[in-house]
Amino acid sequence: VETIDNIRQRMPSTRKNGFFNTGARGPMPQPVVDAWKQSVDDEFTLGRQGPWYGEARSESRKKMRQGFARVLGAAPESIAVTTSTTEAMNTVLSGINWQKGDEVVTTDCEFPSLNTALALLAKRFGVTVRVAVMPTRAENLDAEAVERTVVERFAAEINPNTRLLAFSHVLYISGLKLPLDAICQLAGDNNVAVLCDAAQSVGASPVDVTASKVDYYAFPGQKWLCGPEGIGGLYVAPHRLEDLNLMATRTAAEMDFSGHFEPRAGALRFEAAAFDLPRLRAMAAALDWFFELGPDFIFERNHALARRFVTGLQAIPATTVISPEGYASLVGFDLAGWKDTEAVAALRDRGFLIRRVPGNLLRISFGYFNLEQEVDALLNAVEDLATRKNDTNS
Ligand SMILES: Cc1ncc(COP(=O)(O)O)c(C=O)c1O
Repeated sequence: VETIDNIRQRMPSTRKNGFFNTGARGPMPQPVVDAWKQSVDDEFTLGRQGPWYGEARSESRKKMRQGFARVLGAAPESIAVTTSTTEAMNTVLSGINWQKGDEVVTTDCEFPSLNTALALLAKRFGVTVRVAVMPTRAENLDAEAVERTVVERFAAEINPNTRLLAFSHVLYISGLKLPLDAICQLAGDNNVAVLCDAAQSVGASPVDVTASKVDYYAFPGQKWLCGPEGIGGLYVAPHRLEDLNLMATRTAAEMDFSGHFEPRAGALRFEAAAFDLPRLRAMAAALDWFFELGPDFIFERNHALARRFVTGLQAIPATTVISPEGYASLVGFDLAGWKDTEAVAALRDRGFLIRRVPGNLLRISFGYFNLEQEVDALLNAVEDLATRKNDTNS
């Protein structure tokens, strides 16, 4: 494993500030930016046409697809490349023949891209959306009890009208990693499909879509994989390929206007967007970087830094951690007396980039490139904010 300093040398943006917002967009490493720049230059000098271009695109697509497959534990044919997590989720949600009275179960901690899509299903088709409330630290549960509670709360919302469970693998507010295998087992027992929003899990913590038996798994390239913006993917379990209607696609194996439509093989059928060469090559380079550093190293370090922070916060009385046991690389907390936007700005002034999340909470993303000293300095800054508010209030 490389030293963290070496890694940071090749991720210069991590040295400019305390970068604690990979949950929004990861820092791009040097090889990603080099691949991107070189491709822009090639397009400029050689032109976006001819054998070199076709070959370069198909080669980088192939490499990228293989990399995504390796991250997920899936076959490359099961992955459709999409422009985002949001697009991938919408491919699934718009591909189901919804009937009035159908039900979806989700959680109270979903990102707007899933919430809004579900609200549209309710508006357009009369789908009922049920919400399972996810545990927080206030419930004081150990890791095992958290998992059991999550499964029980999903189970309580399932009934004969339920068609889909749609939720995040890692909750973007608290960082809790849901027990995907157990939830998929529950779904299977009830003949219900599972759509998982993997925005905060892929590249951040271990994932195995095959072992978990998830049906649909939507993920981004720009967050924990540190790739470019505007690229991600959708895993579709082989036995679900025929279940989804195609609402938008670029090509078919065969078709005519009499209603005959033979889709492309595998998950390729779900691809609707074309990608420029720089983006394909940059994403392929990000996947190389990820595997060169090593997923185990990345996952362990992300989580160790998050744990260090949680332990530190417990010594600051003005803070309340909301992440229950079982969090991955995100931590959510409340800072008494502070409005979230003001706290984000005050921390930015002190050199730390974080984000707010619903509930007047602050969220910190921990990446392998962060230093222990930075985590400690962030804790000091939080403590300083807490003290300042106390002083003005007294
Ligand atoms: C849980 C979750 N889902 C979806 C998204 C949106 O991802 P994308 O921009 O790839 O659509 C985010 C982005 O922050 C997220 O945190």
